[in-house]
Amino acid sequence: MSRVIAVVNQKGGVAKTTTVANLGVASAQAGHRCLLVDSDPQGSLTISLGLDPDTLDSCTLYEAMVLAEDHAEHQAIKNVIRHNLQGVDLIPANLDLAAAELDLNQQYAREYALQRILAPIRDEYDFVLIDCPPQLGILTINALVAADSVLVPLATNYLSLRGLQLLLRTVRLVQSRLNSELRIEGLLPTLYDRRTSHHQETLQEVRRIFGEQHIRVFETVIPRSVRFEESPITGTPAVVYAPNTPGAQAYRALVQEVLTHA
Ligand SMILES: Nc1ncnc2c1ncn2[C@@H]1O[C@H](COP(=O)(O)OP(=O)(O)OP(=O)(O)O)[C@@H](O)[C@H]1O
Ligand SMILES: [Mg+2]
Repeated sequence: MSRVIAVVNQKGGVAKTTTVANLGVASAQAGHRCLLVDSDPQGSLTISLGLDPDTLDSCTLYEAMVLAEDHAEHQAIKNVIRHNLQGVDLIPANLDLAAAELDLNQQYAREYALQRILAPIRDEYDFVLIDCPPQLGILTINALVAADSVLVPLATNYLSLRGLQLLLRTVRLVQSRLNSELRIEGLLPTLYDRRTSHHQETLQEVRRIFGEQHIRVFETVIPRSVRFEESPITGTPAVVYAPNTPGAQAYRALVQEVLTHA
């Protein structure tokens, strides 16, 4: 059975996109069929997988999710999927998606647009990972409604920790009103510098606070490494660009950790 995981945090720059790209490609390397969905008008995931958002020729998530007529949705979603980019399939995005906020607000059942278009294709995959923008707007709500679970990348510093309660409240709201099946997959510590005592203390706090709330914090911690910043230039995620580094190993370990809690 397929699993749809939304990678969400309204805080910017906490490694959502890096996590989707590396977890996705690492899971493909481990033999799983994986679809990545770029639901951010910045198009960072699209770039990270080697595509130019300016040359997508009106074949993006926006066309499938917002513009397609109801009767043509099934074909529209097939048309926008790019196949086998480093082993994964991708629904790309570009700035056009910024109009989704306005367009969806005019539509009936606007929170269900992504769920509706993924429904006919999700079972072709073991994993569907959705990269969300750094807001809790309609695109993120669509991802939470389409998903079975939420994975939250969390930078190991004080301000990142502060923003988390708002996110958890949003998840609970979605659970109670729109998607009662939604679960929290786990919190993923990212950008971790083990030489920094503030990072060590924040990580301990995260494990303590969320342990008490019975929210899973992954054992895997993603270390800070310049390889992650370099790799988008090459159009390949770090698990391909620098496969033997601790960061790439951490994402491979994360695949196993996510799998063991199916
Ligand atoms: N473990 C890491 N070590 C060092 N740099 C990292 C790491 N993970 C991600 N980065 C870098 O940090 C920046 C932000 O990462 P990323 O784009 O994945 O975050 P994001 O949460 O998706 O951001 P946004 O909210 O803007 O979508 C990027 O330059 C990325 O290459
Ligand atoms: Mg991003």
